[in-house]
Amino acid sequence: MEPLALFGGPTSFNRELSPYNPYGEEEVAAASAVIRSGCLSSFIGAWAEGFYGGPQVRAFEAEWAEYFGVKHAVSVNSLTSGLICAVGALNIEPGDEIIVSPWTMSASATSILIWNAIPVFADIDPITFNLNPQAVRQKITTRTRAIMVPSIFGYGADFIELKKIAVEFNLKIIEDAAQSPGVNYEGKWVGTWGDIGGFSLNYHKHIHTGEGGICVTNDDVLAERMRLIRNHAESVVERKGETQINNMLGFNFRLGEIEAALGRCQLKKLSSKVQDRFVMGQHLQRLLADLPGLATTPVTGNNGHAYYVFGMVLDTALLKVSRAKIFEALKAEGVPSLATAYVNVHRLPMYTQKIAYGTQHFPWVIGDVTSTVEYGSGTCPVAEQLQDERYLGFAICQYDFTVEDMSAIAAAFHKVWAQLELLR
Ligand SMILES: Cc1ncc(COP(=O)(O)O)c(C=O)c1O
Repeated sequence: MEPLALFGGPTSFNRELSPYNPYGEEEVAAASAVIRSGCLSSFIGAWAEGFYGGPQVRAFEAEWAEYFGVKHAVSVNSLTSGLICAVGALNIEPGDEIIVSPWTMSASATSILIWNAIPVFADIDPITFNLNPQAVRQKITTRTRAIMVPSIFGYGADFIELKKIAVEFNLKIIEDAAQSPGVNYEGKWVGTWGDIGGFSLNYHKHIHTGEGGICVTNDDVLAERMRLIRNHAESVVERKGETQINNMLGFNFRLGEIEAALGRCQLKKLSSKVQDRFVMGQHLQRLLADLPGLATTPVTGNNGHAYYVFGMVLDTALLKVSRAKIFEALKAEGVPSLATAYVNVHRLPMYTQKIAYGTQHFPWVIGDVTSTVEYGSGTCPVAEQLQDERYLGFAICQYDFTVEDMSAIAAAFHKVWAQLELLR
């Protein structure tokens, strides 16, 4: 075997890569047609003809709803905006609690805080990286109103158990399906298990509109409240005749006509893009399966996996090598898109110091009511140990990888594993 690149040997991954790009001539034609039409948006932030947006926005929403088999799809200019609409659509009060995963992008939790509700982090499963239903159960209090459920990296959360908990405690479920569009979990699309689900359409997702997002629901009231929050609710409710005006603070979260037209083209590619990624992820998983001390998310039953990120867990005690050393050796071999950390949202300073709005700890302190929720190290030990010692992530989403690339990456792992002794 060749010496490790870390010690002067040849690198094992030298292949040319180009950034992931699901765009083609269809999108060029669709964007041009919108520009030629002269109508780049028809939204109006008032109860008037344009309140629901222009023809591309409406068609995109109708097509998305049909694809996912839901009654309503509400497009937005990002999923961050979409999650804000989703939480605002619920009837929550300042100080209410929403349980959320710490292993997610920060917007899953800030969408809760924006409404002055309290994010409560529950620990994750050590191999799927998704919320652990048992941990969720332990975090329920009399103030819990909902669970924000990411299906992180492209694999569905344990919706069977989470739904049971939601029914038992009368909680709503909002799904953050940003990374899992077009993925099946137990016979149902991820994003359609909850009361509301949201998808991101930012430029590193499987299909995208540059920036953008879209929420889905079967609930007429929640859909309309999301449309209101998307588009200046406060100045619309009166003329529209809405009497339920709680949390009807609006924003401009509207999607443009060009993005909507691009989204319509992209939706047609969703299943093939997710399938291509699934084939690559499964290929890599098979090739890494016999490496001791390295585990990957088992994809069980008929479930899919969108492999936004290919997550790995190292048994560093068994390997007797630190993650840092393994990472260094793999990087030296030329393996692209590797990271040793994802996110521990519960350890961000905004949470550990409980400083968000102003300096007086609002909304953790509201008048004489002080939240006892705890953040920081020790509160989600599984997520923390993964972040600090054991997680290794390969961001498949970054490049237009091929199956051959996956084989070359696996070869680099095998080379490093064969010489672990030298890293000890
Ligand atoms: C899990 C998760 N939630 C929410 C978001 C926010 O999506 P957007 O960038 O469209 O606002 C992202 C974006 O990467 C994400 O990965």
